[in-house]
Amino acid sequence: MKTKALINRLSDGALHSGASLATELGVSRTAVWKQVHRAQEKGYPIETLRGQGYRLTEEVDLLDAERIRYRLDKALVERLELVVLETVDSTNAEIVRRRSRAQDGYRSLMVCLADAQTAGRGRRGKVWQSPPGENLYLSFGLTLPGGFSALDGLSLVVGSAVAEALETLGLEDVQLKWPNDIMHKGSKLAGILIELQGELEGAAQVVAGIGLNVHMQHASGVDQAWTSLARIAGGGHGWRRNTIAVHLVEAVIAAVDQFSASGFADFQTQWQARDMFFGEELKAVQGELQGIGCGIDATGNYLIQTINGTETIRAGEISMRVAT
Ligand code: BTN
Repeated sequence: MKTKALINRLSDGALHSGASLATELGVSRTAVWKQVHRAQEKGYPIETLRGQGYRLTEEVDLLDAERIRYRLDKALVERLELVVLETVDSTNAEIVRRRSRAQDGYRSLMVCLADAQTAGRGRRGKVWQSPPGENLYLSFGLTLPGGFSALDGLSLVVGSAVAEALETLGLEDVQLKWPNDIMHKGSKLAGILIELQGELEGAAQVVAGIGLNVHMQHASGVDQAWTSLARIAGGGHGWRRNTIAVHLVEAVIAAVDQFSASGFADFQTQWQARDMFFGEELKAVQGELQGIGCGIDATGNYLIQTINGTETIRAGEISMRVAT
């Protein structure tokens, strides 16, 4: 029995006896008990009432592959290999594994979502907190023409697409922090991790992972200001991960298609409109560079006005923050 089947049964918030769950799920009461323990260990909020049964103490917003597939643009579904998992180490790693296993057999476009990650990867070797049922963890396996050198700007393209999708869903004041973060009022709402796979020459195999905080209200060990959709909306908005996933998948793939066809220049204006650093006094985290944020150039490099003139910073070279 899968955790998902159990959570689905409990999702009405009512109290379910072990016996009724066993009958409904076609397993023994011991199997139900074990599954409840496993689900509790994974972090699902199940309360055990001695002699009475089990119930969810909070609503759980489960991912549902069929619902996502059904609501995606039909032409897109044809092009796409969509995988929705309960738990995985990292959706980025899963894309790499599936592509290596399938060799030439895979579709060039792959999307993997998971309810939880046990080893979610952030940038610079950091851990990405990935509790079950809370946030969105999704990765895109992309094949882009022109080799790795043509990839400058991809994370900005993905960031713009995420921001647009969130605005379509009604979120205001979304900002972008060069090169990879989606922010809201100075706190990080989502991050992007681009990883390269394959050869330096020919079409580039890329994995673009997005972690978006949706319901999360508490997290330990995060070393920067963060927020979530639920925190922003005071928990009352009723965000649904399946709906957000559909919007993100469509927006990211449309943006990547446009980027593949025409390059980064088309995205310069829309990215810059959400630039968190624009006009701010900035400081490169490693290095001496200090100056005023001036936005990006036509390839996605960041421009800083320093006392010695305009300096160009390539994505991945250094990170920046607002000078304090
Ligand atoms: C960052 O540090 O800001 C990047 C975070 C990227 C997290 C996402 S969650 C889905 C995908 N799988 C991973 O292991 N990481 C990315």
